[in-house]
Amino acid sequence: MKNWTREKRLRTRSVQGTLGLGQMLTELLAAPKLVVLRGELGMGKTVLVKGMAEALGADAEEVTSPTFTLVHEYKGVKTRLIHLDLYRLTTEREVEGIGLWEMAEAPDALVMVEWGDKFANVMERADAEVSITQGEAEDERLLVVRW
Ligand SMILES: Nc1ncnc2c1ncn2[C@@H]1O[C@H](COP(=O)(O)OP(=O)(O)OP(=O)(O)O)[C@@H](O)[C@H]1O
Ligand SMILES: [Mg+2]
Repeated sequence: MKNWTREKRLRTRSVQGTLGLGQMLTELLAAPKLVVLRGELGMGKTVLVKGMAEALGADAEEVTSPTFTLVHEYKGVKTRLIHLDLYRLTTEREVEGIGLWEMAEAPDALVMVEWGDKFANVMERADAEVSITQGEAEDERLLVVRW
C-alpha cells in the first residue's frame, strides 16, 4: 500500500457537481502526474475527467469512455490530459506495452487512469489516487483524493 501524506474529502450530488470537482482537481493536481481513478462501474470516473478537460481548456465534447479505445488525449492550453481505461487489460506486461510510463514522464502530462488499481505496478508509480463511492442518494458521490 502507498503511504499517501495528504487527503481531501469531497461530496457531490449531481453530474454537474462532479464536473465542478473535476475543475477543482486540476488545481489540486498539476502536471506532471499519474493519477489512479478508483470506483465501481458508473461511479463517475469518466464524468470527472470530462470536468477536468473542460477546466484545462480542451474540447470536452471529445471526452467519452475510453473503455474500448484505451487511450484518449485532450490538448489543454498548458496541460495534456491523458485518459486511460485499463478495465480490459489483465497483465502488468500489457500495461507496460501501451506506454504508460512514457506518457507519465512527459512534463506537461496529467495522466488519469481508470481501473489502474488492478495493477500493482501502476499503484507503485501513482502520484495520487481519487476514489469515488456511492453516497446515500442515487446521484450522490463521495470522493477521496489522496496524494
Ligand atoms: N454525481 C454524479 N456524478 C457523476 N455521475 C453521476 C452522478 N450521478 C449520477 N451519475 C451518473 O453515473 C454515470 C457515471 O458514468 P461514468 O461513465 O462517468 O462512470 P465510470 O466510473 O467512468 O464507469 P466505468 O468504470 O464503466 O468507466 C452516468 O450515467 C451519470 O449520469
Ligand atoms: Mg469510465
